[in-house]
Amino acid sequence: MTGTATSATVEIYTSVPLAGLAGADLLPFPLFLKTSPNTWVLYRDRNSHVGEEHLRRMTVEGVRELHIHTVDHSAYLKRIEISLRELLTDRRVPIERRVEGLHGVAVQMASEILQDKPSAEGVERAQRLLVNTSTLVLREPKAFKAMRVMLGASASLGQHSVSVAFLSMGLARHTLSADPSHLLTAGLAGLFHDVGRIGYESLEHDPEHCQRGSDLLRKLGIPESVCDAAMGHHERWDGSGLPRALQGNANPELARIVSLADAYETIYSGQEPRVTVYEAMRILAQAYRGCFEPALIANFLKLFH
Ligand SMILES: [Fe+2]
Ligand SMILES: [Fe+2]
Repeated sequence: MTGTATSATVEIYTSVPLAGLAGADLLPFPLFLKTSPNTWVLYRDRNSHVGEEHLRRMTVEGVRELHIHTVDHSAYLKRIEISLRELLTDRRVPIERRVEGLHGVAVQMASEILQDKPSAEGVERAQRLLVNTSTLVLREPKAFKAMRVMLGASASLGQHSVSVAFLSMGLARHTLSADPSHLLTAGLAGLFHDVGRIGYESLEHDPEHCQRGSDLLRKLGIPESVCDAAMGHHERWDGSGLPRALQGNANPELARIVSLADAYETIYSGQEPRVTVYEAMRILAQAYRGCFEPALIANFLKLFH
């Protein structure tokens, strides 16, 4: 271990789990070990190598987490995106911490790939992340609850899309089946439902974004059900939606799932002052009477119990 002792205020450092830190590439930021309440010791320097053997040694010594400079947080998320599986499947790391890493990586990734119209590489990157997410959701009963806690105010399209993706996956699990491919499709549909808004952000009312998004996704070779979900995510069960006023089952099931997740997310993140998830559900039930299939709402409520 290399060692310069540092004393500083707590906010400068953020603790991170060991899992996911190892990699073939050189470390893009320094890692620190906390040795007392106000002391951080340099463990690995920037541009040094951290492999599984280093982390194993740490674990043997009883170390559960390391620290990074808080300013390095996005570099950290980039690092663990590649090895996310290791973090998500490490049962020694509490589920809340794993989900925190997943959410951080997801928001960063979504903000990057939705900065512009997504490319085929962006879609592949999203797919990798959603496969890991669905594995976690299917293996760990408490994962969804921990995810829900992470979904806060969605100031950006990236954050909104990640929230709708996670909620759609949760809802698909109860509504479709606990099949990883269904969860992946639901995650993709949630993540990309609003891609048609990219480039038209200044429009207040923009029903055309459904068609634009669906066309864009189709060109990228994305599964048809995901394109249909982008097309139908503002349709309503009673036919009061946009752009085609489809009623009931005329709007495909995945589109109905994303539509409910999107409406809920918009209410939950848009209320000032902030509301609890239960108040958001109540607002949804009152303001959107008849807009969603009762069976789907019942499944959605299950996610919150
Ligand atoms: Fe939308
Ligand atoms: Fe949306």
